[in-house]
Amino acid sequence: MIRVLGIETSCDETAASVVAVDGDGAPRILSNIVLSQIEEHAAFGGVVPEIAARAHVEALDGIVEAALADSGVALADIDAIAATAGPGLVGGLIVGLMTAKAIAAAANKPLIAINHLEGHALTARLTDGLDFPYLLLLVSGGHTQILAVRGVGDYQRWATTIDDALGEAFDKTAKMLGLPYPGGPNVEKAAQTGNASRFAFPRPMKGSAQPDFSFSGLKTAVRQAATAIAPLSDQDVADICASFQAAVADALADRVARALARFRETFPGTRNPALVVAGGVAANRTIKATLERQCDEAGFTFVAPPLKLCTDNAAMIAWAGIERLREGMAQENGFDFVPRSRWPLDSISTPMVGSGRRGAKA
Ligand code: KG4
Ligand code: ZN
Repeated sequence: MIRVLGIETSCDETAASVVAVDGDGAPRILSNIVLSQIEEHAAFGGVVPEIAARAHVEALDGIVEAALADSGVALADIDAIAATAGPGLVGGLIVGLMTAKAIAAAANKPLIAINHLEGHALTARLTDGLDFPYLLLLVSGGHTQILAVRGVGDYQRWATTIDDALGEAFDKTAKMLGLPYPGGPNVEKAAQTGNASRFAFPRPMKGSAQPDFSFSGLKTAVRQAATAIAPLSDQDVADICASFQAAVADALADRVARALARFRETFPGTRNPALVVAGGVAANRTIKATLERQCDEAGFTFVAPPLKLCTDNAAMIAWAGIERLREGMAQENGFDFVPRSRWPLDSISTPMVGSGRRGAKA
C-alpha cells in the first residue's frame, strides 16, 4: 500500500489530491480537489502570473487540508509528498513546492519534485492501466506536444508547437471575436451554429516533413478575416469559429497521422497501440471525434481519460509520485530541488519557444 499527497500549482489551478495503490496494485484516487482561478483572471482575458501566485498562496493550505480530510488519510499515514516543480509559472511553482517542502519537513516524509508534463503523460496508467509504450497528445493552454511514453521517466518528444499552444489559439481567437474567457468552450459553442466551409483558413504545417505544430498563422488569418467583414454579426462569429475549428482539427489530424505512423515504425511489436489525449482542448467534441476516427482507421485504441483528470489536477502529480516511488526513481533529496519554469520532459529535444502567459509552452 502506497499513499501519496500530490500538489499542483503550475498555472491557474490550485490542486491537492491523495492517491493510493493497494496491495493488489490497483490505484485509487482518495481525494481530488481543484480550485480554478478562472474568475480572478477573466477580466484580463488570460492568466496573470502575479495574480495566480497570490491566489495559490491564499488557497493552498485549505486545499491541502481538504484533500487530506476527503481522503480519510492522516498526514502521518502518507508515504510521500509529490509536488509540481515545473514547467510553468514560476510564482505558482514556488508556492506549491515550498509548501510541499514545509509539509514534508514537518511530517518527516520524503518529497518528490514532479514534472507537470510527466503527470499528464502517466495519467492514462492511473485511469486505464495502460502499458508502455503509448503515444500522448497533450493539447492545453500552455502545451501542444506529442510524446512517445516509453516508461516512467522515459519520454521522447516527437512534436511540439513552434509558436502558440492550441488552447492559446482558441483563447486568442475568442478574444478577437469578443467571446468571453476562457475561449475554447465558447468558440466550440459558437461553432455549433456556424458554417465551417465559409472561410478557407490555412492548415498550418499540413504535409510538412517537420513533425511540429504551428498556430500563429491561423490566428492571423482569423484576425484578417474578422477585420475584413467587421462589424461582425452573430452568424459571422459562428462561421469564423466553425471554420477555425475545422482548420484546427484538420491540421491536428495531419500531425497525429505522422506520429501514429512513426509509432508503428518505432515500436513494431506493440500489440495494442494507443493514443492518449490530455489537456483542456481534449474537451472539444470536433477534435475528439476527428482523433477517434483517425485512431479507428489506424488500428490504435483512443484513450481519453475523464476531463477532470485530463486538465490540470493534483491526482496526476500524486500518481507520478507513486510511479517514481515504485521504480525507485524518486530524487534522493527533493528538498534541494529548485522550481524550473522550463523543464522539457525529454532532455534531448530542445525547447522551441519561451514561456508564455500560460506558462512554458514547449
Ligand atoms: O488543460 P487546461 O485546463 O489548462 C492549462 O492549459 O493549464 O487547458 C485549458 C485550455 C484553454 O486554453 C481552453 O480555452 C481550452 O483548454 N479548452 C478548449 C475547450 N475547453 C477548454 N479548447 C477547445 N474546445 C474546448 N471545448
Ligand atoms: Zn497541464
